[in-house]
Amino acid sequence: MTAHSIARDTVITDWSEDKAARFGRDTVRFRHGLHQRPLFSDEALAAILDRYPRERLGVYTMGHDLVDWTSWRRGDAGAMTGDQLLRAVQTGRIWLNLRETNRYLPEFSALSDEIAREKERHIGTSLFKRDLGLLISSPGAMVFYHLDVPLSSLWHIRGDKKAWFYPRAEPFVSDEIIEKCVTKEAEGQFAYRPEWDAAAEVIDMLPGDMVTWAQNRPHRVQNGPTLNVSLSMEFMTNRAVARANVLYANAQLRKHLGLRPRVQEQIGPRMIAKLALARTVKALRARHKTYRPIMPATFALDPGRPGALTAAPSPLA
Ligand SMILES: [Fe+2]
Repeated sequence: MTAHSIARDTVITDWSEDKAARFGRDTVRFRHGLHQRPLFSDEALAAILDRYPRERLGVYTMGHDLVDWTSWRRGDAGAMTGDQLLRAVQTGRIWLNLRETNRYLPEFSALSDEIAREKERHIGTSLFKRDLGLLISSPGAMVFYHLDVPLSSLWHIRGDKKAWFYPRAEPFVSDEIIEKCVTKEAEGQFAYRPEWDAAAEVIDMLPGDMVTWAQNRPHRVQNGPTLNVSLSMEFMTNRAVARANVLYANAQLRKHLGLRPRVQEQIGPRMIAKLALARTVKALRARHKTYRPIMPATFALDPGRPGALTAAPSPLA
């Protein structure tokens, strides 16, 4: 790395050649300065919640049992103001996910570009399909054991949290489960056993910490006792898209031919054949698009009682 490139960095403060080489392949921790920006104060967050398209706002609650991931439920924020929503998160057990802020809010679009430019300069490959999500979540709230299809990085801004990263191997996850996430037959959450924690890499996150991990690696997150604010940056590289498409092709081979296909990590005749298969199946599917329902809202937030949940209004009522 040259002195010139260090001088241009504005987001991550501790790049090294080793970290750049391991980016996207390993669990790598970085330090950043985003928590010092005025973008994430209570006032700023309330204003963001007022401006973000309400129909895109992900509102969730969850139980306390780490094994019972089906207690993850979607809710409805109705017409609550940003202030009211923030108070609900401060006092309740709520997880707000503002996906693709880079698409809807100009300051996050600029931030997404800034982060991507810096990463691209250091890792030497372009980042696309970028999704900068803002996560505002309650004290003690959590995200169950799951995996993400794209590459991802978690930027911590306010509060504290702990993240567990598990091996991308059996029994923690099988290729078949990853394939189902890639083909969207599964949501990304799946069975977890508490004894697996002994094999996990555990990362404590304070404001100014960022972590990135290998594609499709299972993980879970637990908030500390205060309000948490983080950013999740999902993105693809050419290598990550190739892996997702190999998994997509493998899902077809497993389902229709009963094979137990391996995942190719290097370009070669098998990978090329699988990329062609994935492209063909996706093109056929695009012609016969099927309706896929999203998780229905089963609770609503009560503007008069911050943090309280009520039954969602029935669409049939
Ligand atoms: Fe995740």
